[in-house]
Amino acid sequence: MPNVRLTDHLDPAYLRQALENDVRSGLTSRPKWLPPKWFYDAAGSDLFTRITRLPEYYPTRRELSILRAHATDVAVRSGADTLVELGSGTSEKTVLLLDALADRGLRAYLPVDVDAVTLGEAAERVAARYPGIEVHAVCADFERHLGLLPRTGRRMVAFLGGTIGNLEPAPREVFLKGLRDTLDPGDSLLLGADLVKDTGRLVAAYDDPAGVTAEFNRNVLRVINRELRADFDPDAFEHVARYDEGDDWIEMRLRATRAMRAHVADLGLDVAFAAGEEMRTEISAKFRPEPLAAELEAAGFTPAELYTDPAGDFALLLAMA
Ligand code: SAH
Ligand code: AVI
Repeated sequence: MPNVRLTDHLDPAYLRQALENDVRSGLTSRPKWLPPKWFYDAAGSDLFTRITRLPEYYPTRRELSILRAHATDVAVRSGADTLVELGSGTSEKTVLLLDALADRGLRAYLPVDVDAVTLGEAAERVAARYPGIEVHAVCADFERHLGLLPRTGRRMVAFLGGTIGNLEPAPREVFLKGLRDTLDPGDSLLLGADLVKDTGRLVAAYDDPAGVTAEFNRNVLRVINRELRADFDPDAFEHVARYDEGDDWIEMRLRATRAMRAHVADLGLDVAFAAGEEMRTEISAKFRPEPLAAELEAAGFTPAELYTDPAGDFALLLAMA
């Protein structure tokens, strides 16, 4: 495709070092934890796509409905000619934004993701649909490589899906400030955030009866088995999704169904699990609009508009740099 370019900041040595550091530090901590970015190999991204189609998982459909209603307004208010998307995945919802921006002089789309396979496929699809724009796919970690992203054009950074909620509060603050520092006056941020709601609906969205979220959760063990020659038995871990009302977040964990040991050969690491021991694999924070706008202000953004769906389940916040 002539209008697609790929830049890879995740060379194999870097990726391996980052995975080794995270796994060693998470599995030797008490309680144990693993960071959610390692869910997303190609199989993990496919499982996430299946999650988005589950009846219980409302965020994707709600965000789509907000984009259907307001993408034109977002395009006009942002005035952007360049769309940068962090954690872009399949870029499915992005098409609504791209359509609205393409009517107003869009020049470039830069999807950014850690999963090179899904990123490349999405970039090809977008490039075929919009032959007049440059598609520059960037394989990178948005917590580490924001400073390496190209700085041309009037940019809108889209961070959709509620992925901001997968960052813990302290890294989230660092991320938002770091992002603001890479933007120029006139650039903007379009942030998708899942909102606080009935606990039963929240838990159902992360603990579906079909077990797709459970497989997504266990996928992190498959990634570690493959990449670091470990011998986790993923089926010996139960999926746990719990809502923490104090912190307003869903916590996903993997619970050992029996006492066991796992060996991570490439790290020379032996890990013991007690029966019933839980290891945190993800938080998914849920937000209230005003405190979220205040977080953006604290990071140096000026909130411009809050869009929600009629049920008030999900929000898109447009903020100017
Ligand atoms: N934006 C899409 C996908 C959300 S899933 C949507 O709204 O449906 C989260 C995406 O973020 C995945 O594609 C995953 O590979 C990517 N991701 C997770 N952590 C990342 C990181 N640290 N840097 C870059 N991409 C990341
Ligand atoms: C990508 N992210 C916004 C999803 C979420 O809802 O936190 C990941 C996910 N985890 C379980 N289901 C979906």
